[in-house]
Amino acid sequence: MDASQLSIKLFLLSLLCTIIMFKSVTWSSKIHCNQKDMNTLLHFKQGVIDPSGMISSWFPKLDCCQWKGVKCDNITGRVTQLHLPCHTNQPKFVDIGEKDDKSNCLTGKFSLTFLELEFLSYLNFSNNDFKSMQYRSMSSHKCDGLSRGNPPLLSGNSTNLLYLDLSYNFDLLLDNLQWISHLSSLQYLNLGGVHLLHKEIDWLQSVTMLPSLLELHLESCQLENIYPSLHYANLTSLQVLNLADNSFLSDEFPSWLFNLSSDISQIDLSQNQIHGQLPKILPKLRSIKSLILSSNYLKGIIPNWFGQLEQLQELDLSNNFLSGPIPESLGNISSLIELILELNELNGSLPDDLGQLFNLETLLVSKNLFTGIVYDRNLLSSANLKQFSMSSPALIFDCDPEWVPPFQLILIYLGYVKEKLPSWLFTQSSLKYLHIRHSIVSFGPLDKFWNFATQLEYYNLFNNTINGDITNVLLSSKVVALSSNNLRGGMPRISPAVVVLILDNNSLSGSIYPLLCDKMTYKSNLTILSMSNTNLSGELTDCWNNWKSLIFVSLRHNNLTGKIPRSIGSLFDLRYLYLKSNKIFGEVPFSLRKCKNLRILDLSHNNISGAIPSWLGQLSFRGLQLRSNQFSGNIPTQICELRSLVVIDFESNKLSGPIPNCLRNITAMLFSYISTHTVDAILKVPGMRRLRFGTGISMLVKGNELQYHMMMNAIDLSSNNLSGNVPLEMYMLTGLQSLNLSHNQLMGTIPQEIGNMLELEEIDLSRNNFSGEIPESMSALHYLAVLNLSFNKFLGKIPLGTQLGSTNLSYIGNPDLCGLPLTKICPHEEKSHNTKLTEEECDELYSSFYMGLGIGFFMGFWGVFGTILFNRRCRHAYFRFLHQMYDYVIQKII
Ligand SMILES: *[C@@H]1O[C@H](CO)[C@@H](O)[C@H](O)[C@H]1NC(C)=O
Ligand SMILES: *[C@@H]1O[C@H](CO)[C@@H](O)[C@H](O)[C@H]1NC(C)=O
Ligand SMILES: *[C@@H]1O[C@H](CO)[C@@H](O)[C@H](O)[C@H]1NC(C)=O
Ligand SMILES: *[C@@H]1O[C@H](CO)[C@@H](O)[C@H](O)[C@H]1NC(C)=O
Ligand SMILES: *[C@@H]1O[C@H](CO)[C@@H](O)[C@H](O)[C@H]1NC(C)=O
Ligand SMILES: *[C@@H]1O[C@H](CO)[C@@H](O)[C@H](O)[C@H]1NC(C)=O
Ligand SMILES: *[C@@H]1O[C@H](CO)[C@@H](O)[C@H](O)[C@H]1NC(C)=O
Ligand SMILES: *[C@@H]1O[C@H](CO)[C@@H](O)[C@H](O)[C@H]1NC(C)=O
Ligand SMILES: *[C@@H]1O[C@H](CO)[C@@H](O)[C@H](O)[C@H]1NC(C)=O
Repeated sequence: MDASQLSIKLFLLSLLCTIIMFKSVTWSSKIHCNQKDMNTLLHFKQGVIDPSGMISSWFPKLDCCQWKGVKCDNITGRVTQLHLPCHTNQPKFVDIGEKDDKSNCLTGKFSLTFLELEFLSYLNFSNNDFKSMQYRSMSSHKCDGLSRGNPPLLSGNSTNLLYLDLSYNFDLLLDNLQWISHLSSLQYLNLGGVHLLHKEIDWLQSVTMLPSLLELHLESCQLENIYPSLHYANLTSLQVLNLADNSFLSDEFPSWLFNLSSDISQIDLSQNQIHGQLPKILPKLRSIKSLILSSNYLKGIIPNWFGQLEQLQELDLSNNFLSGPIPESLGNISSLIELILELNELNGSLPDDLGQLFNLETLLVSKNLFTGIVYDRNLLSSANLKQFSMSSPALIFDCDPEWVPPFQLILIYLGYVKEKLPSWLFTQSSLKYLHIRHSIVSFGPLDKFWNFATQLEYYNLFNNTINGDITNVLLSSKVVALSSNNLRGGMPRISPAVVVLILDNNSLSGSIYPLLCDKMTYKSNLTILSMSNTNLSGELTDCWNNWKSLIFVSLRHNNLTGKIPRSIGSLFDLRYLYLKSNKIFGEVPFSLRKCKNLRILDLSHNNISGAIPSWLGQLSFRGLQLRSNQFSGNIPTQICELRSLVVIDFESNKLSGPIPNCLRNITAMLFSYISTHTVDAILKVPGMRRLRFGTGISMLVKGNELQYHMMMNAIDLSSNNLSGNVPLEMYMLTGLQSLNLSHNQLMGTIPQEIGNMLELEEIDLSRNNFSGEIPESMSALHYLAVLNLSFNKFLGKIPLGTQLGSTNLSYIGNPDLCGLPLTKICPHEEKSHNTKLTEEECDELYSSFYMGLGIGFFMGFWGVFGTILFNRRCRHAYFRFLHQMYDYVIQKII
């Protein structure tokens, strides 16, 4: 080996070492982002508004694989994942309809440029606040000379994309999903909560034609038409289909889900020579594991073919209008883990087979119309059962006292149990949620029950005629709801763990002092305290400083007396305060102004006096009910600062002076309230399911006994001493639905502008000094159901069309009025139709709607509720219906 050879070898060796070293340096150093992908991401960023700097790291100097939410392939540096969901703080108490605070989330335009990331496999922007989708490329492409027309549609082949999650971008409107069809590998698609505009026929096709799709989540997408859309869809590999909480209206169960015969027409068998039998038609959803169609308007029977969905693990058809029996075939699906059929109109007897499915963990069939007798030991024999609900008025649940069940339940919901409470209940040492309602059962010695109850986190024993003295019983569950029983005695004691205490409609007696004022060594977690109609007496006590976590306090219909104590002002989180129908007197304490979150103040039917405090304007009321008290003085103009106010109810006080002429500043009254709000609220208790509460107020309108809840815009200033002209501003409240100014000394004419108050359903101006003609424009008020102009000084002819909602009593006491419906005839009297609407159908609808409030029912609410309330014809039946639910506080787990 000569020197030159050696040196060459050494050279090669060192070269090799350098190469290896260089390699290892590149290995250990960070991979570099692909330039093209980086540009694509920067392009994507252009349309995004990023108020909290979530993607502030997205700038060119930093390698894009280091950007927040971006993941690259280790070797190629191509972008493979975009994971930027927004995490919003879930407040512990929200009103339904109230939007999450998304001020930290990404908003603006969501651009389809991401489709150009060829190696992207995962994209998650869920729970952000994007408003629109940008289908077309932005101005950077404009300079190609074609810019006069539309810029080109963005396109790309993200053929590697497997997961796409844009769910809960609630304000995102999508009118086009054609781009989805480019995503040929997509396995998971979630557009839950996104508003898909109604051209669903095309877009659902794009979605469901994706050959690899395994999971499709389209809950709460405001879809309406279930029929044509999925008819041709190829769903054979789909494993999860979630279409809950849409508005699918269907008279029969949508058979396209199952039936492949519609596709058969596309299969041409004519050129074959087929021997033997044709194969059994396979269900279209033959791979389905989870099928969720809850909270829609599906009607008809549950078809027997469900039994052929052999892979099915989860079936949720709750909260629809399904009728008929549960098909026996469901008992054959041995893979079934969850069966949820509650809140339907199912009848017949419950097949025993169901509870024998050995994998079954959840069997929820409550709130149906089942009949017959079921024996607990027959129905419930799955050792894996964890959740069981059953409650139908005519179903008899026969409980065997000897039986020792094979399961340990976590949740039980029973209703209409007669005679025997299942004694096996007490063997359930894992039980956390117990809900028994409408039952006439003996709870046995209550001591045993209270003792058992200490293990429970939640119990709701509404309307069960439980008899017993509750004095000094120590309640320690997070949620204790014992409304409508025969509980007696004084106050129970509560442990620091109690978050909700509801004792409405019992026969307790005495003062709340022992409950509220006993020396406390702990910080209370009590959030909801409801003791309406419980026969309480004595004062409100001044111990509220101990209960700073309270959000909801209802002490309606008791015999409480004294003044509203100053310490109420220490409840900084208080949103709802109902003290209606007591004997409270004195003035509203100044300290109440510290309850900055107070939304509803109901002090009606007491003896409270003094002026309506002007500082009320600094709070954020939605409802202010002061009716039937001794309030005097003027209506403070500060009331106009309450932008969110929708109910002003000052009836039957001693108010005088003019109606303030700033009412137009109450912006909530300019829009129909119904579309955006509702009366319920959701409470989140740590470690528990969410709870749902009613937070409405009632407003009895004279003459027609309607009860209003918070979703109606109403002003009632009747039966005071108000005088002067009604300011023109009053007639500019275009969202107002009920106006009652009767029994005052108001005067002036009704202006033509009243014709713009198209939401009006009731007007009562009776017993004032109004004069002039009734304006023609009133005939434009198509929803008017109650009109009372009696005992004023109106004159002239009653305009045609205003007869809607009126009788001759609407006009009497105005000697100078003439025309129908009065008997006094004007010249050229014409006959007109009275097109009153019948309400029976609506009644029926509401009853089923209300039944619809139950377990598993959160997203579902708006679907049903919103739609019904938009149907004006039914509004009145709705309010009448609520009246039957007089002052309700509902509690349910969801
Ligand atoms: C990429 O990096 C991750 C973690 O740094 C590692 O777990 C993974 O195995 C790497 N993949 C390749 C292909 O090197
Ligand atoms: C998207 O992110 C959210 C929030 O982290 C998560 O709950 C969800 O499961 C993710 N989606 C997918 C498809 O992984
Ligand atoms: C997508 O793929 C098709 C063929 O596979 C190709 O013709 C087209 O140019 C690609 N589009 C983009 C934007 O890359
Ligand atoms: C449906 O998709 C499967 C693959 O998932 C495929 O084998 C089948 O041919 C498709 N059927 C129709 C009618 O498109
Ligand atoms: C399938 O559809 C055909 C016609 O579209 C219908 O006659 C048949 O009864 C359906 N089968 C099932 C099981 O729904
Ligand atoms: C209480 O339960 C009985 C049946 O036990 C039922 O008839 C009644 O309607 C229930 N009351 C309420 C207010 O739900
Ligand atoms: C009160 O609630 C807080 C959380 O909201 C919890 O950490 C605390 O343990 C609760 N107190 C009791 C006594 O349960
Ligand atoms: C309310 O209290 C007063 C006196 O405090 C008493 O006379 C009256 O009977 C009580 N009413 C009821 C319904 O308990
Ligand atoms: C009503 O609003 C206007 C403009 O927003 C404001 O100038 C005025 O002071 C307000 N009036 C009252 C009484 O709040």
